[in-house]
Amino acid sequence: MRASEIIRAKRDGGRLRPEEIRFLVDGYAGGAIPDYQLAAFCMAVFFRGMDGEETAALTEAMLRSGQVLDLSDVPGVKVDKHSTGGVGDKVSLALAPIAAACGVVVPMVSGRGLGHTGGTLDKLEAIPGFRVDLPVSRFRELLRRNGACLIGQTAEIAPADKKLYALRDVTATVESIPLIAGSIMSKKLAEGIDGLVLDVKVGRGAFMKRREEAGLLARTLAGIGRAMGKRVTVLLTDMEQPLGLAVGNALEAAEAVELLRGGGPPDLREVTLALCAEMLLLAGVETGGAAARRRVERAVADGSALERFRRIVEDQGGDPRAVDDLARLPRAPVQRDVPATAAGVVQAIDAEAIGLAAMSLGAGRVRVEDRVDPAVGVVLRHKVGEAVERGAPLATLHAARQGGEPVEAVAARVAAAYRLGPDPASPGPLVLERIG
Ligand code: URA
Repeated sequence: MRASEIIRAKRDGGRLRPEEIRFLVDGYAGGAIPDYQLAAFCMAVFFRGMDGEETAALTEAMLRSGQVLDLSDVPGVKVDKHSTGGVGDKVSLALAPIAAACGVVVPMVSGRGLGHTGGTLDKLEAIPGFRVDLPVSRFRELLRRNGACLIGQTAEIAPADKKLYALRDVTATVESIPLIAGSIMSKKLAEGIDGLVLDVKVGRGAFMKRREEAGLLARTLAGIGRAMGKRVTVLLTDMEQPLGLAVGNALEAAEAVELLRGGGPPDLREVTLALCAEMLLLAGVETGGAAARRRVERAVADGSALERFRRIVEDQGGDPRAVDDLARLPRAPVQRDVPATAAGVVQAIDAEAIGLAAMSLGAGRVRVEDRVDPAVGVVLRHKVGEAVERGAPLATLHAARQGGEPVEAVAARVAAAYRLGPDPASPGPLVLERIG
């Protein structure tokens, strides 16, 4: 088999055999097939798509590039959550300790920033010392101890996704249903979970901009999970405007902690608690939606979720004092308000534009080897439906003194992402659909 022939076959709209897909994935993971060939392959898949069998073969090949964990020796039902990616989506940081405090075991293998969206790993690493590169033996140990452990793909867990994810991030090949499905499900199925809650984001800030394509992605993900014997629930959630107020790694980590302290923006809280309640249902911790919801709210209100987060941070090498004193998180040297040029009600905020603005301040990657700046980002001061006076700040940029796009240019882009108008406006529903 030759990689170039397989790429050509997909480029020309052909259907690939499982062994051809395996050849590419194994060759890439093992280093025999170079980045440029996989980049071309991803672009061919982006344009030509894959059918259900090809997508299943891709997922399987990526899954088998590493080991599939057997966590049966860790007591409890293991349920994870994964998001298809959004702007300001710091849900996992708060959700894992809440679910764990309620008795769910959460083995979470997350990703880094992808495209204009942030990644859980980069947000966790904004906490000084926090390690996401733990060996599987430690992952297992911490799951037993804390009921949750959050790591990245390793040489052991879905290594093909680790490489492909980074490659897709910088080759404009993220927004593809088979590539997203293979990426998410390979690492999730490798985790040794019993159940999975998926948060499929829809809207301007999501990879799936339209409801129909998000529905297709949701059904593809759920189909792969169920075919592998897992319990799966999917929520389609709104990503028209950023989730919460903070966009940028340390800023988002701080907002997740505020949620765990019982505060935080209402939309972030709503999506986090809704997803968490679904995890409790899949784990069998509660049997009814209302009881599950009460239980997750209690775990936040009584401080047990926050206490769990402190333990997770400490055991993963992070500074637990940063959880109680957010001033210990990295802070950007420059804060610059973005004023409204006219008075009005916020009609819409282009989440993708805000995500890209945060990236250009240094919160995301342009090349695979780039390092993110944990401190930089954008904090929204107003969301859809809120009235703003002329000259009042729409958002605040947190910027480094040097590097990245000039702050003035980013400020103009953030201002342009806001659409103001005279009419009252209200955001749409946060949870658009549940596929249980
Ligand atoms: N999350 C992932 O893990 N992979 C994708 O491709 C998109 C979102």
